[in-house]
Amino acid sequence: MNYTFSDNISSVKPSAIREILKMVAANPSIISLSTGSPSNEAIPVEEIHEICEKIFRERPIEALQYSMTEGYPALRETTKKRLHEVFGIDPENNDVIITTGGQQGLYLTPEVLVNRGDTVICESPSFVSGIIAMKTCGANVVGVEMDDEGIRLDKLEEAIRTEKNVKLLYLIPTFQNPRGSTMSLQRRKDVYELCVKNNIIILEDNPYGELRFRGEDIPTIKSMDTEGIVVYNGSYSKVLSAGMRIGFVCAPKPIIQKEIIAKQGGDCHSNIFFQIVVDEFFRHYDVDAHIRKIRGIYRDKCDFMLDCLDKYLDKRVTWTHPDGGLFLWCSLPEGYDSLDFARKAAEKGVAFVPGCSFMVKDDEPCPAFRLNYSTPSKENIERGIKILAEAVDEYLK
Ligand SMILES: Cc1ncc(COP(=O)(O)O)c(C=O)c1O
Repeated sequence: MNYTFSDNISSVKPSAIREILKMVAANPSIISLSTGSPSNEAIPVEEIHEICEKIFRERPIEALQYSMTEGYPALRETTKKRLHEVFGIDPENNDVIITTGGQQGLYLTPEVLVNRGDTVICESPSFVSGIIAMKTCGANVVGVEMDDEGIRLDKLEEAIRTEKNVKLLYLIPTFQNPRGSTMSLQRRKDVYELCVKNNIIILEDNPYGELRFRGEDIPTIKSMDTEGIVVYNGSYSKVLSAGMRIGFVCAPKPIIQKEIIAKQGGDCHSNIFFQIVVDEFFRHYDVDAHIRKIRGIYRDKCDFMLDCLDKYLDKRVTWTHPDGGLFLWCSLPEGYDSLDFARKAAEKGVAFVPGCSFMVKDDEPCPAFRLNYSTPSKENIERGIKILAEAVDEYLK
């Protein structure tokens, strides 16, 4: 059989990240600084166990039957309340749909707003599965350079002017994946104004927003949204459990109505058992204490990795100093290619994700790469950075 695939899926190539992950899977002795997972110690296993027992005792059928596409009503309310209290999001003019991980929202939003060939602008670099989601919806995805304050305004204006039918701007303003950096307040305001002026919807993706371990919170773009142009994408993966696959979208009601229809044709509804678990946790447990604890875990690991980098790495390599989230972003000197370097480093025993994996055009060489500090133990962070430092010395020779 000669299979002919759709144009949408044919436009997406397997990412370089897969090659590195395959090497890690084939050789468990490689130290992986490459995942995007939360720390194992950050998952409240005992509490989740208790909640599961309670659900089986008190309402097993409700948790094991079909449920509503828009999500478990109590969790929708809990989510709205938290978005209002923590992120200043207006509960009156917005609604919430519960999704299968934050990932599903990154598919549903372009699916309901973007026609084939319309342009979606994203940061460059950006979250690889976000880029894939936009491309599989048929979007012309265009990456726009970043600086220390976030997406560059001059380059964004240029892309809006020159690209065809720009419909959506996909941003990860807080503890960006992969850079770990955060967009300044002024840049958020400027980007918002520009999008209002040009009728562009902003998709604000904020899965790491609760993981600040240093500095002051910066308001979400959604909290400034008086015009109804921001779709907020959230997730319970990084604050509770990634395997439960529970996320949400918060947006003006007409957009949520369309997303409910699209989700019905996708997966009918998200896992109802785990929606109840999430709701019970947020209603009946000390969520603030839990968040304080996981912030502490990430601060400790991030600082430890930064100390190791200071101690072992050649000063020609630079790296970011995140205030939250799970990642930092290292750069080899200009002209070097981190994909080639990642292959050589994996052969020596340490894996990380080369920067090209996060680019819309992933065949261009990129000197930067992403390191994850949430998953490895401190012992492995130190061993991994020592191997990385040796690999750098050989590579830059
Ligand atoms: C920026 C960003 N958005 C969305 C997601 C999706 O998260 P999940 O589907 O696990 O909720 C991730 C996961 O790593 C992410 O980094």
